[in-house]
Amino acid sequence: MVQTQSSKPTEKKILEDDLEYQLGNPKWMKKSKSLWRKILNWLVTIGLFFLATVAFFVIFGFPVQKMAFKENENVTSLCYQPSALVSSTNEPFLETQDVSCSDFINTAQFHNESLERYQKVLRVPTISYDNLGHVGEDERWNIFGDLHDVFRDIYPNIFNKLQVEYVATYGLLITYKGSNKDLKPLVLMAHQDVVPIAEATLDKWYFPPFSATYKDGLVYGRGATDDKNSLVGIFEALELLASSDFTPERTVIASIGFDEEISGYHSALPLAKRLYERYGQDGVELILDEGGFVTEYYGTYFAAVSVAEKGYMDVVLNLKTPGGHSSIPPPHTNIGIMSKLIPQVENPFEGTLVLENPFFSSLECFAKYSEDLDEHIRSSILKKDTEALTKILSKDKDTRYFFETSIAVDVIRGGVKVNALPEETVVNVNHRISVEKNLHQLYDHYEQLVGKFAKENHLNLTNFNGAQIVSYPDAIGDFSLSTIKTLEPSPVSPYGYGASTYEKLGGAIKHTFGNETLIAPALMTANTDTRHYWNLTKSIFRWTPVSPKAVSETNDFNAHTVNENMPYRGHIDAITFYYNFIRHYD
Ligand SMILES: *[C@@H]1O[C@H](CO)[C@@H](O)[C@H](O)[C@H]1NC(C)=O
Ligand SMILES: *[C@@H]1O[C@H](CO)[C@@H](O)[C@H](O)[C@H]1NC(C)=O
Ligand SMILES: *[C@@H]1O[C@H](CO)[C@@H](O)[C@H](O)[C@H]1NC(C)=O
Ligand SMILES: *[C@@H]1O[C@H](CO)[C@@H](O)[C@H](O)[C@H]1NC(C)=O
Ligand SMILES: *[C@@H]1O[C@H](CO)[C@@H](O)[C@H](O)[C@H]1NC(C)=O
Ligand SMILES: [Zn+2]
Repeated sequence: MVQTQSSKPTEKKILEDDLEYQLGNPKWMKKSKSLWRKILNWLVTIGLFFLATVAFFVIFGFPVQKMAFKENENVTSLCYQPSALVSSTNEPFLETQDVSCSDFINTAQFHNESLERYQKVLRVPTISYDNLGHVGEDERWNIFGDLHDVFRDIYPNIFNKLQVEYVATYGLLITYKGSNKDLKPLVLMAHQDVVPIAEATLDKWYFPPFSATYKDGLVYGRGATDDKNSLVGIFEALELLASSDFTPERTVIASIGFDEEISGYHSALPLAKRLYERYGQDGVELILDEGGFVTEYYGTYFAAVSVAEKGYMDVVLNLKTPGGHSSIPPPHTNIGIMSKLIPQVENPFEGTLVLENPFFSSLECFAKYSEDLDEHIRSSILKKDTEALTKILSKDKDTRYFFETSIAVDVIRGGVKVNALPEETVVNVNHRISVEKNLHQLYDHYEQLVGKFAKENHLNLTNFNGAQIVSYPDAIGDFSLSTIKTLEPSPVSPYGYGASTYEKLGGAIKHTFGNETLIAPALMTANTDTRHYWNLTKSIFRWTPVSPKAVSETNDFNAHTVNENMPYRGHIDAITFYYNFIRHYD
């Protein structure tokens, strides 16, 4: 998965909603802009005579705006910015080329050659399908073997000099042994698989999706963004360092799965187990996986480092009733009965923004640095007025789900024939669970909601745990509740001032993209392979190294859709970032 700009709050919309919503609030904030314009007009047309009056008016009539940029803020607590990492050790040198690694990354030769390697990796269609069987049984996995052939060909130093283990056949665990055994290893993650191409969209691609065509600075192809940019970036950095005289002090590991797009049970899970056997509980220093980008929020770019993920649950609602001939139907078939329940299921959870939610920390960064942020929202953030923020931000679907459990009724199936009464109706509902809640929020909610519904409709009800909690000897049907996939919200990784892993990650980002790059903690509404890695470390970060330049060079990265692409500059950024991160971490 990858989180692109879809998470970008739309500032204008919030502003409108906010102003309509805040009944008791005079509209002076919105109007102040046009008044300013009028004031300027007066100055021009009526002349200096009114200057004093107008100045008086401005100062005393409109005591507004720009409160965020006052000097008296506590800079250490609000959107803390780590400083760029600086290494005390010598720059690694490529002996064969007689050039330092950092200089080599910036040569035309490296750009040419690394582009070719990136394209070779993109040309292998390593698609994961929802219905894949076991590795070794389902032949569709074999393509990952082809990808490994490419890897062995283009990254000889990784395969010759570093320890490479094949886990669960196509998972890759690469260990670059450090000189100091007392230091916990760094773990970099990426996945080899990509999502399928929808047949119906093939003609909308500018170039065939596995051609990896380079055009006007962009590389087009499925996986260019999600996640072969990171995958190849990690390999390029490791290959470069492995071809130099560099030995890390701290062990560096690349843990590379092949089924992230179908939740990682075939590869991320066994990879995490292998690491757990080797390094134990909290035996890893830091994990970095895909996640946020450098994204624009309210006119300012932030490297949005995800420090937590929402939870996940697919609920299955199943209603069985006796079949029969359609000529003598009951008042409602099970389709009709289920239809009455769906609007109740869609009744939103009213989420509340709490200060512990990492999204509040993102907001603090916007308040401090985003010039285009609505001033009322800004002042609410600075006052930590979570009640006002909840009201405002829950009006917009781009912000509300950062603090509310979502509800999406995504699948319905019922009936087989137009002249036969349906015997079963099945509904699947997808939820992303608010970070401060847990699975029980949903178990309890459905038990209550459907319990009441079963009683009103004279139905038996079997709960999630298999217990029949409502029953009638003469019930008109059997309702049951179950789940497909469940995942608790992740722990929140330590971040901010004093959280050394976060500081070093932020420091590597600044080292690569410039000291002016702003780091913001973030919450992910989607999930990554790190779901299987929680026991290994408290410091799990999800961030895809893409620079503001790359963001501005493409319309959108189009992950998971047609014309997925990556500006080549962005890919070089990724390589440079991983290189700096490994080299400067200690
Ligand atoms: C600023 O925040 C830091 C860290 O939370 C705290 O130690 C310090 O006392 C605060 N300073 C002021 C002036 O509030
Ligand atoms: C960036 O910050 C680091 C660490 O604070 C400093 O050593 C370096 O000189 C800065 N670079 C620039 C270009 O300002
Ligand atoms: C880079 O590739 C282009 C096109 O293949 C080639 O013309 C150019 O000479 C190459 N440059 C270097 C420095 O290898
Ligand atoms: C409902 O449950 C009761 C008690 O377990 C059982 O006797 C009855 O057959 C069930 N009704 C239906 C329609 O399944
Ligand atoms: C972490 O360890 C606990 C206790 O051994 C185990 O129950 C749990 O499933 C593990 N979690 C993950 C994500 O591996
Ligand atoms: Zn991904």
